[in-house]
Amino acid sequence: MPWFSWWRRKKNAAASSAAVPAARPLYVPGRETVTAAESHYVIPNDLREANRLDLQHFALHEYFGTNVFAPVHNPQRILDVASGTGRWAKELKAQFPAAQVTGLDVSVPLEIQEHGQPSEYTFVQANVLEPLPFPDASFDYVHMRFVFTAVPAQQWPVVVRALMRVTAPGGWIELVEAYLPTEGGPAFAQLEAWGQQLVGSRGIELAQGRNVGQFLREAGATSVTERSGALPIGPYGGRVGQIMGMDIFTGYRLVAPALVQGLGLDRRLVNETIAQADADVYSGNYQAIMPIYIAFGQRPIHGIVCFVADVGARFIAPWPSRTGFTFFGCGQRYVYPPLFFLIVIKYKHINQHQNKNTQEKTGS
Ligand SMILES: C[S@@+](CC[C@H](N)C(=O)[O-])C[C@H]1O[C@@H](n2cnc3c(N)ncnc32)[C@H](O)[C@@H]1O
Repeated sequence: MPWFSWWRRKKNAAASSAAVPAARPLYVPGRETVTAAESHYVIPNDLREANRLDLQHFALHEYFGTNVFAPVHNPQRILDVASGTGRWAKELKAQFPAAQVTGLDVSVPLEIQEHGQPSEYTFVQANVLEPLPFPDASFDYVHMRFVFTAVPAQQWPVVVRALMRVTAPGGWIELVEAYLPTEGGPAFAQLEAWGQQLVGSRGIELAQGRNVGQFLREAGATSVTERSGALPIGPYGGRVGQIMGMDIFTGYRLVAPALVQGLGLDRRLVNETIAQADADVYSGNYQAIMPIYIAFGQRPIHGIVCFVADVGARFIAPWPSRTGFTFFGCGQRYVYPPLFFLIVIKYKHINQHQNKNTQEKTGS
């Protein structure tokens, strides 16, 4: 192993181990990995969560009017990291029918548990906090959405570098993150504080979501572009607000047992606080929002190989050409399909000049 890869591994390993502080083991139905401290996501993997994620996906699409922010053109290999129910992956397959779509998640979605692999995408069970099970440059478009409650602060740079590794040079990486609902009144503020306290014991800082652009730049991405939004929560936000209201309060109700287990809070107090936040939002006294942070960037293209062969011109090579042709080619093996071009130049006038010289020398 070359010395520099040993050094790099050591650095990554240090970041990983420092990122997982001792936290109280949590029992979260459908997520044995939380108990094992390999993943930190504290919402159960059950039908209510699946429906919540699909609703949330719908609200995001309604609000932004798109599933795709990066300027991708006909990507052939797409990866969705933390793919959840697979809704985004399926819609990307519909949008780019020729693409091979892969979804990766630490938990197997209920639909796949019941019916096996879907036809639209290939599901791979893996943990994004561990080395990704794909060779370098495997995808043209890598997307990761809403892991701000699952990735420890110190591991963000490691995770984004891993996404860069599996993205082909010239391909795009897109990160879509959020923060907990704010501006919803004191009960919401209390839930926000408890939420941060709970995941904080696992090294997670919820506010890291707003740094997605910086993570991409630090990982070496170029053309990094950032966008943000604020999804309304509650009736003031129309259809999106109504959906986000259902999303957020279902989410908090699903997290409540983890708040009780992880922080030792009184169950009734937690439930009453959630009910109060719900009442505040629906009373119209507060206009709560869920901040959204979007960033996308491109893996730079390196390693273009060019060559010149069987040179037919004296000013390029000192030997006379056999063919009278010059071949000039360039290639970039990571782009899919591999991009090679070949230019054949016939130096006709030079060969004519050579022939004339030869004729003069031989007197013919
Ligand atoms: C809020 S959901 C978002 C799902 C999907 N990206 C979406 O936007 O609908 C977070 C997802 O991250 C997954 N997750 C949490 N920790 C993970 C990890 N360490 N590795 C891979 N997936 C993880 C969870 O299982 C869950 O499906």
